[in-house]
Amino acid sequence: LGFDSRHSRRHFLKLAGYGTLGLMAAGLWPGFDGFAAGQTPDTEFIPDLDITLSARPGEVPVLPGDPTLIWRYHATVHKGDRTRIAEIPRSYLGPIIKVHQGEKIRIRFRNAIPEESIVHWHGLHVPAIMDGHPRYVVPQGQSYLYEFEVKNRAGTYWYHPHPHGRTGPQVYRGLAGLFLVSDEEEQAVGLPDGEYDVPLVIQDRTFDSGNQLVYMSGHRMERMTGFLGDMIMVNGLPDFTLPVSTAAYRLRLLNGSNSRIYKLAWEDGRPLTIIGTDGGLLERPVFRRYVFLSPGERLEIWADFSDNPVGYTTSLLSLPFDVGGMGGGRMGRGMMMGGRTGQNLNLPNGVAFSVFKVKVAQPVKTDYRLPDTLSEIGPVRPDDAANFFRPRQFYLTMRHMQWTINGRVFQMEEVADDEIVQLGSTEIWEFNNTGGGMMNMMNMPHPIHLHGKQFRVIERSGVAHEGYVDEGWKDTVLLMPGERIKILVDFDDYPGMFLYHCHNLEHEDMGMMRNYFVRE
Ligand code: C2O
Ligand code: CU
Repeated sequence: LGFDSRHSRRHFLKLAGYGTLGLMAAGLWPGFDGFAAGQTPDTEFIPDLDITLSARPGEVPVLPGDPTLIWRYHATVHKGDRTRIAEIPRSYLGPIIKVHQGEKIRIRFRNAIPEESIVHWHGLHVPAIMDGHPRYVVPQGQSYLYEFEVKNRAGTYWYHPHPHGRTGPQVYRGLAGLFLVSDEEEQAVGLPDGEYDVPLVIQDRTFDSGNQLVYMSGHRMERMTGFLGDMIMVNGLPDFTLPVSTAAYRLRLLNGSNSRIYKLAWEDGRPLTIIGTDGGLLERPVFRRYVFLSPGERLEIWADFSDNPVGYTTSLLSLPFDVGGMGGGRMGRGMMMGGRTGQNLNLPNGVAFSVFKVKVAQPVKTDYRLPDTLSEIGPVRPDDAANFFRPRQFYLTMRHMQWTINGRVFQMEEVADDEIVQLGSTEIWEFNNTGGGMMNMMNMPHPIHLHGKQFRVIERSGVAHEGYVDEGWKDTVLLMPGERIKILVDFDDYPGMFLYHCHNLEHEDMGMMRNYFVRE
């Protein structure tokens, strides 16, 4: 039923009308002269932090020799504590923005790159017009005003561009940054902080002989699989080594890669101690031999080096993996994941590579101890869902050499019948990555991301990989081929149009993205 396009079209027209009125009232409709300039700071809104965040071209010395031309976010603080903005020296990454739950934030985004852009606050619970939907893109020289209250729990969130069809290349050029939220619950736990709280953004990049970034090769298959770079960067730096003291650390990992999935494990065999995921701290630590980190996802790990001698080194590795699944044809198994990973990094097939090294550099006495209890997040209650017996179904398939969701690709203003939800409802959404019929050879993992919401994973079935952390709040969830996942989402406030999509940025740019509409 939901596939009836005439039906969808009718609904779409209605919605477009609705949306237009609302936006015109807010002075935001793109058809108006100086669309973003038409926005004016709300005088009732008293920000705790007021910054300008500009995206602009620049250069950084990434490799020995010539600097690399990049695009980067820069921040200037108009009001608020300047230490809330932490620049990462020598990096193409944008500043780390640090806020506290309940604070009011004003961000004046200024687009100074030579194409349209808009900023999305990945993982943040914000109103639809503050979410960076591609319909709000602004051209070079214009701004977009964001004003919102930080509603999220403490956690590791991030921001990046979201213009349709250009998210991949813009992120690849350097446009991304972390957005860290703290709250009282987190502060009461007494986790390692200051220099013992380390954000680590993991990405892959390819450079040419003149040290310039190389994006897509132009090969058709690369559009299908997504871009894989041949060097691993951490916080924008190659060959990253983290110097540590003999102490426990809170490592905040973000996979900011366009499409590379990492299967993380410690080289020295210690288990990974996971304390947090996309939406903040878990209830209690969980332990894994290895864990997948797909594009857009975050993981917070507890890493204790207090028993290691000065001089000790280890690595966080990415292990080779088989994407498995049904069929698992040539693309699925050999070439794409294990094989390409190996080849691209100039390593033989099936060999692990180091994401970053850790070197114990100095002795220190600290008394951070892994807490038994980290936070309270409560049980998942699937029976709260209005559609408990008939979850919304989303099939991730390939059609006509296009990645699709329920056979559809992104249309800027389109919402189908089965993409409209009622404000105030709690729902189960089921995603199926169970293959594309005769295209089984093209089975691929898809990290699925919902805008504007944190959700809980109810159930994962199909292939039983152990490397998932489905326990906490999530906004991005990896589905390997053959997997099916049910999530519980509460559409408790904020009506309007939001996105859900695959966070493999090449898939997203090709249209593996759709709107959902929260109706009042
Ligand atoms: Cu981080 Cu719509 O994405
Ligand atoms: Cu995908």
